[in-house]
Amino acid sequence: MRIGILGSGLMGGKLGTLFARAGHEVVFSYARSKEKLQRLAREGNASAGTPGEAAKEADAVLLAVHWSRVDDVLKQAGDLSGKVIVSCSLPMNADNTELVVAHSSSGAEEIAKKVPKARIVCAFNTVPSEVLFGVFEARRKAERPSLVYCGDDSSSKGVAAELIRDVGFDPVDAGPLRIARYSEPFALLVAQLAYAGSGGPELAYRFARFGK
Ligand SMILES: NC(=O)c1ccc[n+]([C@@H]2O[C@H](COP(=O)([O-])OP(=O)(O)OC[C@H]3O[C@@H](n4cnc5c(N)ncnc54)[C@H](OP(=O)(O)O)[C@@H]3O)[C@@H](O)[C@H]2O)c1
Repeated sequence: MRIGILGSGLMGGKLGTLFARAGHEVVFSYARSKEKLQRLAREGNASAGTPGEAAKEADAVLLAVHWSRVDDVLKQAGDLSGKVIVSCSLPMNADNTELVVAHSSSGAEEIAKKVPKARIVCAFNTVPSEVLFGVFEARRKAERPSLVYCGDDSSSKGVAAELIRDVGFDPVDAGPLRIARYSEPFALLVAQLAYAGSGGPELAYRFARFGK
């Protein structure tokens, strides 16, 4: 697939690199320096461009910016009608201490309102970026870590599930987009365990699919 990366930081940089390693055609965009995008492109066997170029002709775009940058990057990306948008963006405040959307809505649902003609899938936001390369390297092992995703459009969810598998996770369809109301706060629990709780990293990385 051709995948446009909107936001080439910790998540976008790593996921874009892994998508390219899995054989997809990747365009990195939206970092504060052009040099960074060019470096990612060079090292990842991908290309660099503007958000508009990344989105044009893309089979899927990855939305991986801070909540405060969502409107700006969507504006720069241009018309996203009909596009699959895989979002890992969490609706966090400026200092990343609180969700600014929760309970009765979610970041993913608010993005769907901003781009009503696009097809939004919420995925990858329950995983800390640090583990992505490790999961990719271990991807052929029988016991793959689960990764939940949700969305309202089944063909877009098929695209997201393929990308999740390509990174090395077992995709778990959690249902419609409104389930992001529960998965987004869950992402903060994982982050709390990973970065702040005692023994967190072990716990956070060992969440296994229930019933397996
Ligand atoms: N990191 C994680 O473990 C993780 C896990 C789950 C979900 N998420 C969510 O994923 C999204 C992206 O997170 P991230 O950790 O990848 O963030 P990040 O490293 O800060 O990446 C954000 C990207 O936006 C770019 N950007 C362009 N213009 C900007 C501006 N004016 N101000 C700030 N950034 C600008 C940044 O540029 P530069 O490259 O120049 O900085 C960077 O490439 C967030 O919504 C976050 O909540 C992150």
